[in-house]
Amino acid sequence: MSTHAQLERQLRACGQDHLADSLGSNPALADQLAGIDLASLAALIEKHVRRPDQPTLATDLAPVECFSTVTTPGRQVFDPAAVARIGDRLIRAGKLAAFTVAGGQGTRLGFDGPKGFFPAGAVTGKPLFAFFADALLGAGDRFGLVAPWYVMTSTRNHQQTVAFFKEHNYFGLDPADLFLFPQGEMPSLDIRSGRILLAEPGRIATNPDGHGGSLRALHRSGALADMIARGIEHISYFQVDNPIVRVIDPVFLGLHVGEHSSAEMSSKMVPKAFPDERLGVFCQTQGRTQVIEYTDLPDSLAHESLPDGSLRFSAGSIAVHLIGVEFVQRLNTDPDFQLPWHRAEKIVPCVDPDTGSRLNPFAPNAVKLEQFVFDALPLARRSIVLETSRQDEFAPIKNATGIDSAESSQRIQTARAADWLEAAGVAIPRTADGTPDCVIELSPRTASKPEHLAAIDLPDAIAPGQHIAL
Ligand code: UD1
Repeated sequence: MSTHAQLERQLRACGQDHLADSLGSNPALADQLAGIDLASLAALIEKHVRRPDQPTLATDLAPVECFSTVTTPGRQVFDPAAVARIGDRLIRAGKLAAFTVAGGQGTRLGFDGPKGFFPAGAVTGKPLFAFFADALLGAGDRFGLVAPWYVMTSTRNHQQTVAFFKEHNYFGLDPADLFLFPQGEMPSLDIRSGRILLAEPGRIATNPDGHGGSLRALHRSGALADMIARGIEHISYFQVDNPIVRVIDPVFLGLHVGEHSSAEMSSKMVPKAFPDERLGVFCQTQGRTQVIEYTDLPDSLAHESLPDGSLRFSAGSIAVHLIGVEFVQRLNTDPDFQLPWHRAEKIVPCVDPDTGSRLNPFAPNAVKLEQFVFDALPLARRSIVLETSRQDEFAPIKNATGIDSAESSQRIQTARAADWLEAAGVAIPRTADGTPDCVIELSPRTASKPEHLAAIDLPDAIAPGQHIAL
């Protein structure tokens, strides 16, 4: 059977006659469909569009045990210095790479452009990508070598992102140590019929396949092979939205490769600030770690508290992981490897396949399917979770205003820098309630931990109302 006839048959088998009918007159459509797994589409449409069901939770769901550097009662305490020595050795030996997932659409932020371009610096206005580059350069100064950086984009922001890095002279990094690749796409489906929507006549509407798609995209893009060729053994995974993420962390790496872990996939958490905080929660079922996304956690569990008043399911994910290169290789060579798909309802402007007229819906008309990287956690044999300090490592920019906005992130950045500088002997102006009366932007090149400030020439004091970048 010709490829054309085979494609037509596959399309009809999964209810996509509107595409099968126009294949002959539109060769570009066949190219667009080539990257899509049509064989499993019929089952996905049935499960997520025709008969969507609520995700079921395991009946033995329990809170996860965490390691802690902040020694919250009840956590497993360990010796960070001993663990850091192990991580330190691996970093100096060039075994760690950085990996940012930056393929999301960032609709909530309302920023016109890829999220990595967002001006996150309170004083310099420098973009999120510059923060991560500075973190890598800072670690390079301290460990004697700059880790390579892999950035996952999406087809819609890839060229723009490549150009942005070039325009900014790769933020001081060697372009040979930078690897940008686009993630996979999934067709966007009509919310009622399951038919693939058309973005334009003859062109299907697609959406990025979620950050879970990164595990396959790393392999497909050649990034994984590049890591192996460089001798990389572990991947420091983080999202594009958190300017104060500790990109290179010897303590976390030491724990990840240590006796309690299978060195496949490890995670960082902070205790949730309030029950409905929009953080995935680490749980445990059948001895395996997993994340339940905030949208899937029933209210009763989100609010359940312990006798001391603390939340029972409190381990909030900051979406920071260490992932073993061997683990990613194993998943990609396992014919049964498939992360679950999650359904989201979206508004997708499209054209009517029957009349060709443009539709601009006001209510969700599409089902978008995405995979989440944390769904790979239960595939790891022993997966550790490390509690960390929220103020030191988590100030995400997700929303235009309020919680997790640029304004809240910059407030946390100043509070963190003020505490660290004060501990290093710098006088910080504060208002009556203790809030710093200044704006401080601390580059991760200068410090990603308080002790890094010891090696820096610092001012004696910061003036009230001063804006300062260090
Ligand atoms: C995410 C996590 C949540 C966690 C929180 C911490 C998910 C589903 N939820 O929530 O558990 O507690 O962060 O801040 O991730 N991305 C891609 N490709 C895609 C989709 C997303 O690269 O196809 C990237 C985005 O660019 C971003 C990150 O993944 O860097 C997070 O995506 P987003 O959908 O914004 O998740 P959150 O709701 O912020």
